[in-house]
Amino acid sequence: FGVASFAIALGLGAPAAFAACDDGEIVIKFSHVTNTDKHPKGIAATLLQERVNEEMNGKACMEVFPNSTLYNDDQVLEAMLQGDVQLAAPSLSKFEQFTKKYRIFDLPFMFKNIEAVDEFQNSDTGQAMKETMVRRGLLGLAFWHNGMKQMSANKPLIMPGDAKGLKFRVQNSDVLKAQMAALGGSPQPMAFSEVYGALQTGVVDGQENTWSNIYGQKFFEVQDGVTETNHGIIDYMLVTNVDWWEGLPEDVRSQLGTIIQEVTATRNAESFKVNQDNKLSIIAAGGVVRELNAEQRQAWVDVMKPVWDQFREDVGQENIDAAQAINA
Ligand code: LMR
Repeated sequence: FGVASFAIALGLGAPAAFAACDDGEIVIKFSHVTNTDKHPKGIAATLLQERVNEEMNGKACMEVFPNSTLYNDDQVLEAMLQGDVQLAAPSLSKFEQFTKKYRIFDLPFMFKNIEAVDEFQNSDTGQAMKETMVRRGLLGLAFWHNGMKQMSANKPLIMPGDAKGLKFRVQNSDVLKAQMAALGGSPQPMAFSEVYGALQTGVVDGQENTWSNIYGQKFFEVQDGVTETNHGIIDYMLVTNVDWWEGLPEDVRSQLGTIIQEVTATRNAESFKVNQDNKLSIIAAGGVVRELNAEQRQAWVDVMKPVWDQFREDVGQENIDAAQAINA
C-alpha cells in the first residue's frame, strides 16, 4: 500500500500531513495538539499547509502534525529551540517559562468576548507581545483565536461553591492554578492529550476549555455537564524559532509571512462561529449544557476576579486598563 494508506493504518491522521517534500524545498514542520476538523486551530493549520504547499511549491513544504502525534505542548517549544520543529501554536497559557506578559490572557473575566481579545491583540501593546520572547529564541508570528472557556465537572456547576473540593485539570499556568484555588478547587496541571483519560478514570473531576476542545476531545462524554461561564479565553501564539526565521531567504520569509497574515485574518474571523457549532454538536450528541442567569454568573465573577490582584505586577496595570477600556 502507498504512503497515505500506511499513515492511516498507523492512525496518524490525515495523509496530507505526509505531503512529500521535494529535494531542495525548505521543510516546515508544524506540530500541534488539537483535532483538525471543526477546530479553529486545526482548520487554520490545515489551510496554512494547503496554501504553502500550493503557492510555495519548489521553495518550501509544510507538514502539519496534529493531535499531539509529534509533541505535546510541554515539549514542543524545547523541540523548536533544538530546530526539530519550525512552527507551533500553543495556547498563550503555555509560555510561562518564556514570558509572564501573556498572563493577562489567563486572568478570569478580563475580556468580555473574542472581539475584545482581537482588538487588544491588534493594539500596539498586543502586537509588541509577539516579540517579548525573542531573546529566548522564540518569535511570535500571529495570534490565533480559539474562544471563550467553559467549565465542566462530574456534577452540576451552577454556583461557584459547587466547584469546592473538586480537582480540576488546568494548563500549566500559575494564573489558572490560582483561579481554581480561588474556587476552593484543587488545580492539576496536565497535558491536553491526557485530559480525557483523567476525566474518565476520575483522576480529575473537572476541567475548563472551549466548546471546540470539549467537543473535539469528547470531554462532555465523561462529564456531568458543561456550564456556559465564558470566564476566560484560550488563544494561541503561532510561534517560530528566531534563528530559523531570520535564516530564511528574504523572498521565502516574506511570502510565508504574507500567507500567515492572510490565513490568520480569514480564520480568526470564523473562530466564534466554529465554537458555536461545536456547542451545538455537544447538545446534538446528548451532552448537557447549562446556562447561568445574570445573578449566578456574577457570583462566579465575584469569586474569581480577585485573582487579578496576585498578577497585577506581572501583567501591568496599564495593560489591564487597556483591556477594560476595550470591554467598555
Ligand atoms: C489545552 O491544553 O487545554 C489547550 O491549550 C489545548 C489547545 O491547544 O487548544
